[in-house]
Amino acid sequence: MSKMAAVMESGEDAFKQLFKFYKRRKPPPDFSEVINFSGNLCTGKVVPIKLNPTAVSDAAASRVGLRPALDWRAFGLQGCPGFIFISDPFRKDSQPFWIRQCLKTYPQKPNVCNLDMHMSPCDTQDIWERSVNSLSSPTPPRRQEKSLLERLRWVTLGYQYNWDTKLYSADHYTPFPADLQSLSQQIALGCGFGDFRPQAGILNYYRSDSSLGIHVDESELDHSCPLLSFCFGQSAIFLLGGKQRQDPPTAMFMHSGDVMVMSGQSRLFYHAVPRIVPANPSLFSSKLQNPPAPPDLQTQTTPLETNSVLEPVSEQDWAICLRYIESSRINVTVRQVLGPGQSFPHS
Ligand code: SIN
Repeated sequence: MSKMAAVMESGEDAFKQLFKFYKRRKPPPDFSEVINFSGNLCTGKVVPIKLNPTAVSDAAASRVGLRPALDWRAFGLQGCPGFIFISDPFRKDSQPFWIRQCLKTYPQKPNVCNLDMHMSPCDTQDIWERSVNSLSSPTPPRRQEKSLLERLRWVTLGYQYNWDTKLYSADHYTPFPADLQSLSQQIALGCGFGDFRPQAGILNYYRSDSSLGIHVDESELDHSCPLLSFCFGQSAIFLLGGKQRQDPPTAMFMHSGDVMVMSGQSRLFYHAVPRIVPANPSLFSSKLQNPPAPPDLQTQTTPLETNSVLEPVSEQDWAICLRYIESSRINVTVRQVLGPGQSFPHS
């Protein structure tokens, strides 16, 4: 019997058991049964998926930093209808831009972050600027306090998600970033969701010892719309269960650049992130190449290519981003909250 099967036999909620198994520090768990979509896929559970590459023009893909859709490697899992895993569809040179957006741009006001829960807006309005000194020193100063960036846990975009009520607010909306909207729509288009409208986003920031508990994303009012998930930085183990908490989950690695789409039945499946896993250093550096910006472009914020949403990332900014993601992971989930013609119920 495999270690995983032995763990599941104890009768406790299968998801919780596996979550604890992969979260365990001592002794560290055996990862041999974790699916690695960027490695050898010998498990019968994985099925290659044919996307809809003609729906995404090469120019539209490139505009948001994606490779031509024909080159996207997409997989599904048996027993998880509607689940799509796209193994790093990003161009080699585009992840630095998206990582910088997640660290420098999206945490800016008017978006909301965990630090706003106990700090005044003027103290949280320049998270990046206030963290740069501490994150750019070659050896981290011995300090009691972590920088604001290191204390960032989540940022919410668009219709603001209320973590206490687990509801979106009709009257608390911050403009959804146009660049992330374009990226999400190209991915959705390639997966057959031409009408996808990104209306809310949650960025989760994970340190090396962070995890995300078992949950279902059901606060959106229309569950027929897919949920998109983008991963950057360090790797993680993702557990995808089923409709019932007792359904045994499948464990898979998520690496920087990987994209997941939860749609159809799997849109409401239980899932969790029990563990952050160090990324393979050589793979990591080959994936994350920041093209040198010409000196006069170092401070430029206009697109590098005509129509592209990508902007050059200055060497200074990239050094801070690299320092951050050396030990951290960023996940961005993008959701459509309301179906076509739907509105929030009056309270
Ligand atoms: C989520 O389920 O909301 C995020 C999952 C992840 O961090 O990959």
